[in-house]
Amino acid sequence: MLVLRTPSEMTEWSLHEIKQGRSIGFIPTMGALHDGHVALMETSLLHNDRTVVSIFVNPLQFNNQNDLQTYPRQIEADMNVLTVANIDVLYIPTPEAMYPEGFASSVSAGKISASMEGVHRPGHFDGVATVVVKLLNAVRPDVAYFGLKDFQQLAVIRQVVRDLDIASRIVGVPTIRDADGLALSSRNVRLTTNQRTQAPVIYKLLTEIVASVRTGTVDVTSLRNKFMTIESIADAVVEYFEVVDSVTLQEQTDADNSSVICVAVWFGDVRLIDNISIA
Ligand code: PAJ
Repeated sequence: MLVLRTPSEMTEWSLHEIKQGRSIGFIPTMGALHDGHVALMETSLLHNDRTVVSIFVNPLQFNNQNDLQTYPRQIEADMNVLTVANIDVLYIPTPEAMYPEGFASSVSAGKISASMEGVHRPGHFDGVATVVVKLLNAVRPDVAYFGLKDFQQLAVIRQVVRDLDIASRIVGVPTIRDADGLALSSRNVRLTTNQRTQAPVIYKLLTEIVASVRTGTVDVTSLRNKFMTIESIADAVVEYFEVVDSVTLQEQTDADNSSVICVAVWFGDVRLIDNISIA
């Protein structure tokens, strides 16, 4: 596996591959790789001649300094995962290479980034949009893969890529879960043993709520009340429960086949997000 560390090295490699007529698939990550990331890699490996993975813990998208400092970093284990998966290139820029002195620009996706995560993590999606544009510009992939786990992030990226005429195609990949239903996340390692036992209730409640929508309970207040029962767990605090249109992310008052239910829940000081589609 080739390891590249600067945007110019990355672009030089990609331009050479493109010249040879090879297609490039790309998976941007922040490392602490798990089977969710691997699912994106496998999709790329299946459909492209070359696959590039980036690891960059992007300071711009952390609105909480404690979250940035405690974000898991495990580069050796990650290199191992990437080698076993047969990834062609690891792109691992330093913060200085990405944001040299004098860096001043920012990408903002507008309304789609204002709700849900946007309310609770101010500036987060501008940081995500800015870094993803920089990564796409450096890698120039035919296709970039993103997880449906971060549903609003995927919508933000689709908006930015469309608006800014970025040539890469954006593909969403379904959420990978542990056997007990908990969506895989790099932050799960920060849960205590007790919290880790309790956290699968997020997805359990979401699936029960989808079942009740299908049997006619569609009003969001009733659905939210059902979800709020999670707060009977001492460590669990719900940050938001929203029912939104799967394309526009507009909030809905009644759920239907167009809806996705998005939640953020704190377990102690670990913030978990998840979502489920009604359709
Ligand atoms: P990170 O959290 O490392 O996630 C990298 C990619 O893996 C994202 O597209 C995310 O949606 C996807 N992913 C995470 N958990 C998943 C799961 N359980 N199943 C399927 N896919 C999953 O998301 C980011 O990094 C950053 O915001 C980034 C896009 C790299 C910009 O910095």
